[in-house]
Amino acid sequence: MPKYFVFTSYIFRKSRLNELRSLCAFKILDNFNNVFVIEAGSGLVEKAKEANLIFVYSIFEVGDAVELSKERYLYGIESSVRKLAIDKDVPMKYECYDVNSKHGYSAKDIEVTVGSRLENEGIEINMENPMALAYSVLINMKCYSGYSLVYGLMKPFLNPERHYLKAYSGISRAELKLHEALDESDIGGKRGIAIDLGASPGGWSKVLYDKGFKVLAIDPADLNYRKLGECRVVVKKATDSKGAGEMLLKSESPVIIHIKSGTSKLHNLGIPGKACIVVNDMNIEATESARSVLELKDSLTKNCILIMTVKCITKNADKYLSITKRILEGDFRIQFCRVLPSNRQEITLFARRI
Ligand SMILES: C[S@@+](CC[C@H](N)C(=O)[O-])C[C@H]1O[C@@H](n2cnc3c(N)ncnc32)[C@H](O)[C@@H]1O
Repeated sequence: MPKYFVFTSYIFRKSRLNELRSLCAFKILDNFNNVFVIEAGSGLVEKAKEANLIFVYSIFEVGDAVELSKERYLYGIESSVRKLAIDKDVPMKYECYDVNSKHGYSAKDIEVTVGSRLENEGIEINMENPMALAYSVLINMKCYSGYSLVYGLMKPFLNPERHYLKAYSGISRAELKLHEALDESDIGGKRGIAIDLGASPGGWSKVLYDKGFKVLAIDPADLNYRKLGECRVVVKKATDSKGAGEMLLKSESPVIIHIKSGTSKLHNLGIPGKACIVVNDMNIEATESARSVLELKDSLTKNCILIMTVKCITKNADKYLSITKRILEGDFRIQFCRVLPSNRQEITLFARRI
């Protein structure tokens, strides 16, 4: 029976298992927090790629499983990887994810040791743009390893935390959520005006600015102007929101205009039908948050992208998703919803303005 390593939401425990059950019957072999090793029927990765999953983030097939001993720890991992059917001619990367145990080696140490031994044997290693991935998941003193061409994977990396940390600018951990979300949705070459609702301390605004957007950042709280450092930032009052819009329209280069106000005080942003992306990370109840988006609808282009975190006060995710969708549906086409690795008790919703 094939084995799989499943990366799920940490918070919505009941929903994640129900979702997995909707894909296949399975037996849990190992589990630690959001990580499962399961035994299930074949073709689960393909099935999961086709399904519109919310709570299961990624699934990797396991090609070999071994018990590890403290004495021969590295050797055990390396010999597990050696049993995989690695194609020497395909440039690959080796990744290790140590879920719960530390035995004097970091995952990075293991990657360097195993990766360099593979390289010494003539396997082509490409860290930046690999065509294949070999991986080991270490959980409860066991090593589960696998190998796949990147196109067959749900995600081209094993450990999202490490993958997205590379892009972290240090303003707020929240910015990781937007990096993860932008990877899920195709924003293509879209650039222009972005609206960031609940922008403080500025992580999401910085991500959008760095991508070349002119950002209207709305929040009564301050942005971290010091950490925004080299970005061009202008602060305006709610009473000058129209002026802020005009300034954005005129600007030919990226800029962050911070309107220091809550959304309820804003009526005319002065950018009719101009914003091509609106992001919303306001830490308010889901219904109110969705209604705030609707109040801005005249400022958005047709097909404008909406990325918003739906905050769930309880763990009844279905309830918050359905009320949010109901409010947005007349004006937005909901594309999908996903719990991303950096989401806590929230779900990221992706939609397009109709
Ligand atoms: C989780 S933080 C946002 C973090 C931000 N995305 C980042 O990357 O730095 C939520 C923010 O929503 C703001 N907020 C809550 N209600 C708001 C409202 N009605 N209008 C504007 N901002 C609001 C809060 O002031 C808070 O700064």
